[in-house]
Amino acid sequence: GTDYSKESYRPQFHYSPPAMWLNDPNGMVYFEGEYHLMYQHHPESTVWGPMHWGHAVSKDLVAWETLPVAMSPDHNGAIFSGCAVVDWKDTSGFFDGGSGLVAIFTHADIYPDSDRPRQRQSLAYSKDKGRSWTFYTGNPVLSDTGITDFRDPKVFWMEEAGVWVMVLACGDHIRFYRSANLKDWDFASEFGKSDGSHYGVWECPDLFELPIDGSNRKKWVLIVSIGDNPDYPEGSKTQYYIGSFDGWKFVNENAPDTVLWLDEGRDNYAAVSWSDIPEEDGRRVIIGWMSNWRYANQTPTASWRGAATLPRVLSLTSRNGSVALTQMPVQEIERLREESFSWNGVAVTPEVPFIHKTNNDLLEIEANIDIRSGDEVHIQLKSSGQSETIIGYDPVREWLFIDRSKSGLTDFNPSFACKHGARVAPENGSIKLRIWLDRSAVEVFAGEGLVALTDQIFPDNPIDSVWISTESGRAELNSLHIHTLNS
Ligand code: FRU
Repeated sequence: GTDYSKESYRPQFHYSPPAMWLNDPNGMVYFEGEYHLMYQHHPESTVWGPMHWGHAVSKDLVAWETLPVAMSPDHNGAIFSGCAVVDWKDTSGFFDGGSGLVAIFTHADIYPDSDRPRQRQSLAYSKDKGRSWTFYTGNPVLSDTGITDFRDPKVFWMEEAGVWVMVLACGDHIRFYRSANLKDWDFASEFGKSDGSHYGVWECPDLFELPIDGSNRKKWVLIVSIGDNPDYPEGSKTQYYIGSFDGWKFVNENAPDTVLWLDEGRDNYAAVSWSDIPEEDGRRVIIGWMSNWRYANQTPTASWRGAATLPRVLSLTSRNGSVALTQMPVQEIERLREESFSWNGVAVTPEVPFIHKTNNDLLEIEANIDIRSGDEVHIQLKSSGQSETIIGYDPVREWLFIDRSKSGLTDFNPSFACKHGARVAPENGSIKLRIWLDRSAVEVFAGEGLVALTDQIFPDNPIDSVWISTESGRAELNSLHIHTLNS
């Protein structure tokens, strides 16, 4: 059996809590040289329970330092998901005319309480760079007796309108609210009852504007996570919409039945973006929870459970007349590179596979593969035991996939062993992949990041070789780089 006490599955360059449970990333804000990453946390258990906000900070989005728990349940309930902003102009009045951090989050009843709505939005503020948080005495600041699922506020300052905008998940739709001071909120509009996917409850929205191909033209992106539904194989998943927002109303520019997925893997949920990244940096950086409600409470780790994805930069690119979202891990991640190996023009067949052995299961792989022969290509991440995870491309179906059905421990939940993927069109007869392996985490990006696949795996032994071959026939590795990474 696997010795969990060795923490053999703990990712080394993805954030995971030192101990106990983690789910959604929360309160991501950049302030005075630090990226804050807070998260849904149960400090007493490795399964979900009364929620706290765990807390970590980083100067570079790569190395994280865990701080004490930021917020614990109080008389208003548990601390569900939400965001944090810098209140630069002291609109809230919390900072004596200066500035500081305000967290806007959902207070959720731990035990049903008939005297009040189950979920309400509240504030907490920090005058010491997030080291301590004070609940606002006027909490909650937004409740609605008519809506049961009423949570996960994401707030941003809209300069043009001189107003705070809140995006809120309301069961089967999104609501937008406006405020001058973060304390008094007015309803502006709602969106989505008949747009996109509705297979589960809507959660963790985000809304921001992005330039198209780095130009002056911009569009708004609305992110909406969708909870688990046992009738669908995917479990919980995140969708997005592209459109316009005038400070009051979001208009989806695609047909209502269009469904766009942020990630085509099984383990990227509740992804939202950092607030207040300085304009001169200009990046929109998101981070997700690298798990899935289908089996999140059952993944085979012992002292801790749950990790975040890599932080990723989002961009919009125009393609054949329409606009698409791309994503790629922040460039800072490349600082982890230790040793690099490169190859060019290597032909592979089932008889003569490419094999690279390694004693480091922290890898970055960049592969450019000529697939004009039409034969299915497999990049296999193998361990000395029986485990293999396949990242494959089928040129006939133009389909990129991850097959984790033999990836190691899979039987903790019947949905875990699976092969899944997405359509990826080749470019000039080739496909270009960037892959990060972090022990139990696999992140795959196609081309410039038009498709992302994020999956957890639990190999029987640490992965120690990369095999590239075809199912039958032949393919050519135009170029291949394998970087070992340091932790
Ligand atoms: C999403 C979510 C949120 C909620 C939180 C509770 O994963 O269900 O809607 O605020 O997790 O932990």
